[in-house]
Amino acid sequence: MPADSHSSVLAGLERIVGSGHVITDADTRRGYEIDWTARFQGSTPAVVRPATVAEVAAIVELCRLERVAIVPQGGNTGLVGGGVPLAGEIVVSLGRMTAIDDVDVAARQLTVQAGATLAAVRAAATAAGLTYPVDLGARDTATIGGNIATNAGGINLIRHGGTREQVVGIEAVLGNGQIVRRMSGLVKDNTGYHLPSLLCGSEGTLAIVTAARLRLTTRYDHRVTALLAFATVEAAVAAVARLRTAIDTLEAAELVLDAGVRLVCAAFDRRPPFARPHPVYVLVEAADVTDPTAALSGAVAALDGVEDAAVADDESRRTQLWRYREEHTLAIGTLGQPHKLDVTIPQHQLAAFMRDIPTRVSRYAPDASTWLFGHVGDGNIHVNVTGVEPDDDGIDEVVLGHVAEIGGSISAEHGIGTAKKRWLHLNRSHAEIEAMRAIKRALDPDGILNPNVLLP
Ligand code: FAD
Ligand code: MLT
Ligand code: ZN
Repeated sequence: MPADSHSSVLAGLERIVGSGHVITDADTRRGYEIDWTARFQGSTPAVVRPATVAEVAAIVELCRLERVAIVPQGGNTGLVGGGVPLAGEIVVSLGRMTAIDDVDVAARQLTVQAGATLAAVRAAATAAGLTYPVDLGARDTATIGGNIATNAGGINLIRHGGTREQVVGIEAVLGNGQIVRRMSGLVKDNTGYHLPSLLCGSEGTLAIVTAARLRLTTRYDHRVTALLAFATVEAAVAAVARLRTAIDTLEAAELVLDAGVRLVCAAFDRRPPFARPHPVYVLVEAADVTDPTAALSGAVAALDGVEDAAVADDESRRTQLWRYREEHTLAIGTLGQPHKLDVTIPQHQLAAFMRDIPTRVSRYAPDASTWLFGHVGDGNIHVNVTGVEPDDDGIDEVVLGHVAEIGGSISAEHGIGTAKKRWLHLNRSHAEIEAMRAIKRALDPDGILNPNVLLP
């Protein structure tokens, strides 16, 4: 940005939100300029922190006039480099917009501003005797705006769907500066294009989401978790498929491998789950209004190939079991900046994929390590590769190319961001990408919202 335009933009931003909410100090900016993995780092002239939708609209209008690009940012837990200013954009942080209100128990809905954390929404729903069913490891920091922008999936998708399935109303400022607001929460409402669905997964390229009306579900106060050990991925995948048909209270089915569990234990000084290690583990959880333990135990007893099992129905032991799974992300982070490739594999290809992919990675980068874990119930595997330079995206090409060849998705739940936009064509046809570009042009005619994200 040229110096004169720079100072007029900063002065304009300060007029809109007050000088205390425009961060220009280099030390304070740093946390907004680098992503969670530390693989993507850029810089910004300013981080602006609006408090109202009117302020967000005024910021967008100012940036349009000044032809300055914006990166919307929530909790900055995104894993594809989509929420950080890699090309000198202004960061619009939603961190001051955290109100949660209009909790309607009868309609089973609540209204939330985009900067509220997922954990805060889940707590508000629980306090009302209900649940917000989306959940993920970054719950304490990730925001509802970020969840909507990435269409976050998480650990309970097999039962309740992802973020898109929960959003019944939205308030947002489009790239053209207009505010769209449809928050009545009418569940049946076929009056044209469904903007909440369009904005779910739009990664900050079409609009800045400022609030949403979310669907809530039954609160299940009884919960049981089991860690099951298997000799092979084939046996584990077959067991998950059988469990899904055997019990309809299954909320989560997560797969980890021995190497990942050892890494977690070493990184966080945890005891291993069983007296002897097993090649593959699946963590399953069932939840119901009455105790689901007998149903889960009965279904597990009928499975083939279970070599060991630990069952927990109290909070503290359940948390211990979940740590073997949820601490993977942090444990892998201790090894350096990982390439995080979040993919969906067709169910019948899962076992072969998990067997093949480490070999393909080693062929390209003999010193690299491949870490595999993820939401096996919906075919979503997180392929993390360490020991490769952060900007060596040849490794991404190897993994994503193979995923596309076998009919998978190159982005299951994290989005395309900047990390994967080169490969969007592997999954989307020319006509689809042109349709997306047309939508982008219509809602963001000056191309100021996240111009380096999603579309190649
Ligand atoms: P940010 O990182 O701030 O932004 C992400 C993207 O959304 C960027 O493109 C940004 O520009 C855009 N954006 C943010 N806010 C807005 C807004 N208000 N309006 C428009 N655009 C916006 N993800 C899953 O799906 N499932 C998981 O199980 C999961 N587990 C995770 C576990 C850990 C430990 C970590 C670190 C991350 C995990 N993630 C997971 C990824 C991440 O938490 C999600 O992508 C989350 O939805 C991002 O929310 P955020 O508020 O941090 O968004
Ligand atoms: C997870 O499921 O733990 C996440 O999506 C984060 C990751 O991929 O590391
Ligand atoms: Zn995940």
